[in-house]
Amino acid sequence: MCGIVGYIGHRDAYPIVLKGLQRLEYRGYDSAGIALYDGQELNLCKTKGKVADLKAKFEEGTSTKGNIGIGHTRWATHGVPNDVNSHPHYSNSENLVIIHNGIIENYSSLKKELVKRGYTFQSDTDTEVLINLIEDVMVKEDVKLGKAVQIALNQTIGAYAITVFDKRKPNELIVARLGSPLAIGIGEDEFFIASDASPFIEFTSNVIYLEDGEMAVIRRNKGIKVRKIQDDSLVDPYVQELKMNLEQIEKGGYDHFMLKEIYEQPNAIKDTYRGRMLVDKGIIKMSGVDDNIERLANAKRIIIVACGTSWHAGLVAEYIFEDLARIPVEVEYASEFRYRNPVIYENDVVIAISQSGETADTMAAIKLAKEKGAFVFGVCNVVGSSISRETHAGAYTHAGPEIGVASTKAFTTQITVLTMMALKLAKYKGAISDSQFRFHLQELERIPAKITRVLETSNDHIKEIADKYKNTPNCLYLGRGFNFPVALEGALKLKEISYIHAEGYPAAEMKHGPIALIDEQMPVVVIATKKGHYDKVVSNIQEIKSRKGKIIGIVTEGDEEVRNLADYVIEIPETIESLTPLLTTIPLQLLSYHIAVMLGRNVDQPRNLAKSVTVE
Ligand code: M6R
Repeated sequence: MCGIVGYIGHRDAYPIVLKGLQRLEYRGYDSAGIALYDGQELNLCKTKGKVADLKAKFEEGTSTKGNIGIGHTRWATHGVPNDVNSHPHYSNSENLVIIHNGIIENYSSLKKELVKRGYTFQSDTDTEVLINLIEDVMVKEDVKLGKAVQIALNQTIGAYAITVFDKRKPNELIVARLGSPLAIGIGEDEFFIASDASPFIEFTSNVIYLEDGEMAVIRRNKGIKVRKIQDDSLVDPYVQELKMNLEQIEKGGYDHFMLKEIYEQPNAIKDTYRGRMLVDKGIIKMSGVDDNIERLANAKRIIIVACGTSWHAGLVAEYIFEDLARIPVEVEYASEFRYRNPVIYENDVVIAISQSGETADTMAAIKLAKEKGAFVFGVCNVVGSSISRETHAGAYTHAGPEIGVASTKAFTTQITVLTMMALKLAKYKGAISDSQFRFHLQELERIPAKITRVLETSNDHIKEIADKYKNTPNCLYLGRGFNFPVALEGALKLKEISYIHAEGYPAAEMKHGPIALIDEQMPVVVIATKKGHYDKVVSNIQEIKSRKGKIIGIVTEGDEEVRNLADYVIEIPETIESLTPLLTTIPLQLLSYHIAVMLGRNVDQPRNLAKSVTVE
């Protein structure tokens, strides 16, 4: 949560930092702030609200001059989102200023000590405690800023990505990370700092991703020195070449990132299997799986850990792995797994799924599984993310940047990776015949074109359905088998972007309680594809119909039976059962998108949410 941006060099810092914050706004949008040094004064402006509010306030009365600056966009943890709690935060002397992404867990005991020593605090934040701790160390121990940051960080417990500036040393910025991401872009006599590389892709393609427990002193015209925070040892940083381009992080003519990302799914899935799935040769190459095939195929059990939409992808994978590879699978919320003393054996394989690769609960679950001796495989989208580095092996989804807070292409590409993985293990174990294996590859290769067909043929129809039900206070989503997790995902999408209460259930569970909710007002979205318990689902539809519920059926092309029962149907092309989630999820994404737009919601930045959840 929270996005941080910094610049030191020869250009005007303000437009770089401001645009950087706009690009990182997906990480949190409760408040925003910028501090600029113009050669004499430190000019700081911050406000509750979005980066657009900050821009208006800044340009009303604050000087935008200076070629060193830092900025922050916040997802509130400590303290309500108001102007005072916004970052950057000054130290008491107002010489130091800080931006911070993360949580200092022992801030309260540190604060008590500082109060005793005469420090005062304007805000309720842990960050203001940290900057005063740094100032206190500087004064007490008579050390330079870099050293003071290091000593102070060694007294903290928690997570951080920080940038600190001292107006008496206007040619340097100090950065550090533990548990929250921090990228440093390296240009010609200039440096960029950000939570991800998007704020500086038009300026440089050389980037250093600081590792956990590292800090760097960045000096104008002098370069960068990276050290371990704990023992001060020097680190030779690895400079990577950025693969991201500007087009990927812009809306490209769509009204919202979410819509763009829904429409990107055909290509995103192709990017996921490109170079890995060789349909003509009947093989799947995935180096993370190939290099560990014995370990993975001989797993007595697979435990999948994830949160939110990634957890739903894990539930789909449970059906796929058990069906194809015949390996027992358990799917756990990472947040529960990490605290419940789980039984993990050495021959268990843990698969951690995360779009951002930064989710704190998933990260903690991975660490626990590793401590208990499990082999951990990561499925991440963000290259170089913390989770991708913490796991023993893994496979990237290659979906490209996902900026809308509601996950769309991350979900379908995660399912694609997990399907390829299950197929590989099934083949290796002899659990699937060669012809079945080839057939699955051929069908998976056809999915992008089928998604395109759904997008082209149903969008307008889905808009009509959205218009009809946009004012409903509640909505139910039902599915069975491989499509039960899709029902959960459909409900989550509607909840998070339209704020309509929605629940997903296995269709057959209705009669055990939820059917009491059905009346003539209740819309029920039912996934009723031809493959997969069709007759049973049709019976469930009858049960809802006889209680006057409104049915929106997701059906296979040409279906007549459900059409005759339902108020609306949305058709998807036929495919094998295990791949239907890749198609059935598309109309549900569009339905929630259109309802949210019609209700005037902020689709890409829904209230109270952030894209990467780097706090517990
Ligand atoms: O980055 P991750 O996949 O680990 O994120 C997990 C969840 O926070 C995420 O899927 C969240 O539920 C989405 N906003 C749902 O659309």
